[in-house]
Amino acid sequence: MEFDFSDKVALITGGGRGIGRAIALSLSAKGASVIVFDLLEKEGRELIEEIERGGCRGDFFKVDVSNFDEVKEVTSEVLRKYGKVDILVNNAGIVYTKPFIECEPQEWNKVIAVNLIGVFNMCYAVFPHMIERRKGKIINIASVAGKRGGGIFGNSIYAASKGGVIAFTKALAREGGPYGVHVNAICPGPTETRMLNGFPEDKKKAFMETIPLRRFGRPEDIAYAVLFLASDYSDFITGEIMDVDGGIMMD
Ligand SMILES: NC(=O)c1ccc[n+]([C@@H]2O[C@H](COP(=O)([O-])OP(=O)(O)OC[C@H]3O[C@@H](n4cnc5c(N)ncnc54)[C@H](O)[C@@H]3O)[C@@H](O)[C@H]2O)c1
Repeated sequence: MEFDFSDKVALITGGGRGIGRAIALSLSAKGASVIVFDLLEKEGRELIEEIERGGCRGDFFKVDVSNFDEVKEVTSEVLRKYGKVDILVNNAGIVYTKPFIECEPQEWNKVIAVNLIGVFNMCYAVFPHMIERRKGKIINIASVAGKRGGGIFGNSIYAASKGGVIAFTKALAREGGPYGVHVNAICPGPTETRMLNGFPEDKKKAFMETIPLRRFGRPEDIAYAVLFLASDYSDFITGEIMDVDGGIMMD
């Protein structure tokens, strides 16, 4: 076996920048055709140009994952054009860091809409297709915040959304298992992207001292775990919630 994705079609949400971008580039470097859904049109199109320069097929679609109809319509277009989706990576996400009592109800709605309902919308559009084909790999990007109940890098709303993603991952894995559809999640620890850049330096430094590997994650660290979970090497793994966090979550 090899990390060879040359006959695979991968659909990645939030691939315009950060972790999603690294996932898109890693999969395409191993030959996959990569389709990116994101709100960031310029970044998304530039990424696809880079993928095409590397000799792979790629497509960008401006899609808001929280919009059920949009997701359904564009995913149908992708399925018509590519004939299949082998790998779905639900990566798009947003975060608020303020305390619960300072949050507005609309902020709760927004985070749940993108981080949790977005995953539902994407799975609703792709999972039946995978069931029909009797194969598929779904990888949801959750967070250690969904296990720990937030922490300095995410608040209660964010933690709730990611906790929901973790439970949903396991439930869907049970349903998909008999049909050869694998559903797993990755829980990144703090990872060097724009999401992390928004946090105060002193808090980041203090937190880093508590990480056994004494560094924050790089987007590639998460992408390599995605490569494994998207590959044949992980064919006996489903419902797994994999921490990629420098050791933060170890017992
Ligand atoms: N960076 C971290 O420290 C960290 C830690 C744990 C989990 N995560 C998770 O990893 C994932 C990627 O985060 P990141 O750090 O790369 O963040 P980022 O902000 O750099 O990238 C997020 C991407 O998602 C896209 N996006 C946001 N809302 C969207 C929507 N409604 N529809 C489509 N696309 C949308 C953004 O445009 C952006 O391209 C997120 O789910 C995040 O919660 C990040």
